[in-house]
Amino acid sequence: MAVSVRDVAVAASVSVGTVSNVLNRRDKVATETVTRVLAAIEELGFVRNDAARQLRAGRSRSIGLVVLDAGNPFFADVARGAEARAEEDRLSVLLGNSDDDPLREDRYLDLFREQRVNGVLISPASDDVDKLERVKNAGIPVVLVDHELPGSRFCSVSVDDVEGGYLAVRHLIDIGRRRIAFIGGPSSIAQVANRLRGARRAVDETPDAALELIEIPALTVLNGRTAGEEIVRREPSQRPDALFAANDLLAVGVLQALTMFSTVRVPEDIALIGYDDIDFAAATVVPLSSIRQPARLIGHTAVDLLLRFIDDPDGDYERNVRFQPELVIRQSTSG
Ligand code: RIB
Repeated sequence: MAVSVRDVAVAASVSVGTVSNVLNRRDKVATETVTRVLAAIEELGFVRNDAARQLRAGRSRSIGLVVLDAGNPFFADVARGAEARAEEDRLSVLLGNSDDDPLREDRYLDLFREQRVNGVLISPASDDVDKLERVKNAGIPVVLVDHELPGSRFCSVSVDDVEGGYLAVRHLIDIGRRRIAFIGGPSSIAQVANRLRGARRAVDETPDAALELIEIPALTVLNGRTAGEEIVRREPSQRPDALFAANDLLAVGVLQALTMFSTVRVPEDIALIGYDDIDFAAATVVPLSSIRQPARLIGHTAVDLLLRFIDDPDGDYERNVRFQPELVIRQSTSG
């Protein structure tokens, strides 16, 4: 039987209201009383029922999460990490897929407002701060996921994608490649634009290296395959000797085109590196080198930051958490 607020009140010889004040408005309670109530909480092993508190506050027991592409294993892992942390407070995660479409994104934000979710986590399809301000002004805190808006007041959990792009191309240069192509797009996706910036930094610091940009309309396996087929149709002397795909889904498609429909050898003729290090990356026909993002940790941290902000909006904690990417070397760039 769970210990109730009433049990704590009896043990500390105070009213239920005083226990609630110690939990929520401690500054209104005499120090001696706070000490006595906290001792009773400790002795009885009372655990605060946040979900009940939030139900009373007219909130649903859920958190909204809007991702750019629910079909991308990276975001599926972000959602899993978010769920793991939400379940610790007996909250659920409602997943919305914007497909990188701002109008679809708007519909999910409206739905989450109607559902009175406790908060919204979002990997935004644009840098439209006004729409996020509208959610915040409706009393629903917002945490940016896999993205940050420098100068904004929004909490965020992200990865240094400029550093990630640099690591990817620095590695290709370190294995001796110089005619490098970046396959990615659209540049409206901040993560893609930042990875390209990092790639350019690595090339710019290497005198005999060159970077070609192969733009694609969306980060999908099919677009990767189309890009790979275009490269294979070139004269061998016109082909890059290394490819950096903006994410692993693209890299999987490129790998299909190079290895299944041509005599191009990976990595001997063309080295290939992706980004995200999704589970499939290690299982591809030529195990894929990638830049790893801690997807589940990103999701877990985003929910934790949201709940901390709900409990203590003015508290002294980091509001913009940024993880570092990690180079994972496999057969597609070695040997
Ligand atoms: O959806 C765009 C990309 O950005 C994903 O593949 C993932 O890398 C995210 O960070």
